[in-house]
Amino acid sequence: MCVGVVNKRDLPAAETHRPAPGSVHKQAHASGRRRTNPWSPTYTLDLEKPVTLLLFFPFHTPPDRQPLDASKLKPNTTPHTQPPPIMDPSQQQSMNLPVIDLDVYLNQPRDSAEAREECAKAADALITYGALVLHDSRVASQDNETFLDLLEDYFAQPAEELRKDERPELSYQIGVTLEKTERPKCAVDEPCLDVIRRLHPSQRPLDIMGHSPDPKCRFFWRMAEPPPYDTQFPGLNAANITPEAPHIRDRWAPTMDLWGRSMTNAVSKLSEMTAVGLGLPAEYFSDAGRYGPHLLAPTASDLQKYGDKDTILAGFHTDLNFLTIHGRSRYPGLNIWARNTGSRIPVKIPPGNYLLVQAGKQLEYSTGGLIKAGYHEVVVNEKTVETIERRKRECPDRPLVRISSTLFWHLNSDFDLAPVPHLAERAQRLRAEQAKLGRDEGEATVYPPVKVGHQVQGELKHIALMV
Ligand SMILES: [Fe+2]
Repeated sequence: MCVGVVNKRDLPAAETHRPAPGSVHKQAHASGRRRTNPWSPTYTLDLEKPVTLLLFFPFHTPPDRQPLDASKLKPNTTPHTQPPPIMDPSQQQSMNLPVIDLDVYLNQPRDSAEAREECAKAADALITYGALVLHDSRVASQDNETFLDLLEDYFAQPAEELRKDERPELSYQIGVTLEKTERPKCAVDEPCLDVIRRLHPSQRPLDIMGHSPDPKCRFFWRMAEPPPYDTQFPGLNAANITPEAPHIRDRWAPTMDLWGRSMTNAVSKLSEMTAVGLGLPAEYFSDAGRYGPHLLAPTASDLQKYGDKDTILAGFHTDLNFLTIHGRSRYPGLNIWARNTGSRIPVKIPPGNYLLVQAGKQLEYSTGGLIKAGYHEVVVNEKTVETIERRKRECPDRPLVRISSTLFWHLNSDFDLAPVPHLAERAQRLRAEQAKLGRDEGEATVYPPVKVGHQVQGELKHIALMV
């Protein structure tokens, strides 16, 4: 069905904008009463649970795909004691991301066998794949469709109109980011390039070595409960911006908030399931994320301009937040890499009340690497091109824009991020087991204690959104 109010037009080209040196943190945040930071990473447990791992899956690699050329990569100087862990695609047999049913957790007693089993499944899925499909019958797919229509209309506006919503002085952490602003972190990040080196050549992402900023645009709409204490990071917790155009303005906040609430409700409950599955109190992560600067973060890719096959819309990267949740996009193109398979997986979210969830860096940090942030890219593939042609036929008056239906769920900026000790120990044992099986996970990552806000600022500098 083709609805919405704005006719098809080109997305505006945008100049590259960089925040001026020293221009961050200018915006004060009006916060409520002062309170000291109530969180600290002192919780420990001795609970232990085996992990099911090491599955092998099929994939499809079109013969004309241009994977990243390993010869362009710098030599890997990491002293590996095991042969590369590369998964030979011919050995891979079947693949589906686990489907986790949030309804079981919501409707069964928390200590019931069914609920605990579903929680264990959620944690294991994140350990094994860094991703899962979440079923939540509270989610209405029509709310996602209304959201996609609104964002298509918004990004079909001229660049001058969009630029009114840019806030480079806040590191683009609110409002719009225009195309060719954000750089894929991996292009300049040695540990990330090492991940690519260790993938089978047929499973590598499209080549990001040109260091070109992504052609995607994005809007950040915060879905946050204001913290009842003075945050040290007001720039990461700034007030929302509502677009001015009359045909957008009035429906903006209701549409964004409705879909944003659906996804925050789903993902915060999944954080509880994950905590239980990891042997932590259910609210361990959800309390730490209660005042997090969660961002409804639709990206927009102009498929008239960037619709050729093998165009990179968002280069290979991980997300810096705790969990990322996606509703269905109208165009395929999202690929994820399952940690323990080495396979590139084209994402398909089933129709209905289903969402895709990926682990981000804050979850990796909290678990000492037991759960790894999931790598992903968004590209134009054969299926994207087929969908473009179909949309042109079926909805000729609609903007030809790929909108991602994405929400970044964060821990509170003032939370002290550090690995839970028993999870960090389990991560080390897992790493050793992987090494015994010849699966090299690269150089060990260290997770020194850090405020979430500082971790976020560090990552933003990597992707050129903050100086
Ligand atoms: Fe991402």
